[in-house]
Amino acid sequence: MAEVTLTVNGVRRAVGADPGTPLLWVLRDELGLTGTKYGCGEGYCGSCTVLEEGAPVRSCQVPLAQAAGKRYTTIEGLSNDGSHPAQRAWLEQNVSQCGFCQPGMILEAAALLARRANPTEEEIASALGDHLCRCGSYPRILSAVRLAARRAAAGGRP
Ligand code: FES
Ligand code: FES
Repeated sequence: MAEVTLTVNGVRRAVGADPGTPLLWVLRDELGLTGTKYGCGEGYCGSCTVLEEGAPVRSCQVPLAQAAGKRYTTIEGLSNDGSHPAQRAWLEQNVSQCGFCQPGMILEAAALLARRANPTEEEIASALGDHLCRCGSYPRILSAVRLAARRAAAGGRP
């Protein structure tokens, strides 16, 4: 058992848990942020993706000890009101089916748009391609990223 301090969605949090506990379970069970989903637990599916210092990481593969002092964003913290361009594009394109994979997909897209306001098709496919969607919503996911990117390129907030 150790106490580790990290910042989640702009709030400093002190967590007492085994240092080897995956960040995924810290977020869900200790902090109540259940938007981050457990899929494979092996680093393959992407459903547990959160942003670490703005970059996507698979939280099932991040031990709590490694998260000490770092800043994380979960789907709950991407915007206060669902107004991030990726979130708006997702709604407008009716992307979600069951929705399970979508928090990780949206955070991955948000990170892509933050570093590349006008990504190429290859960059979009590369960023989102290793996230698994059992519902097969990939065409709508790609459409939503393109829509958010067009808006970002036109001067909107990425
Ligand atoms: S649950 Fe983390 S990558 Fe699948
Ligand atoms: S929308 Fe169901 S797994 Fe992707």
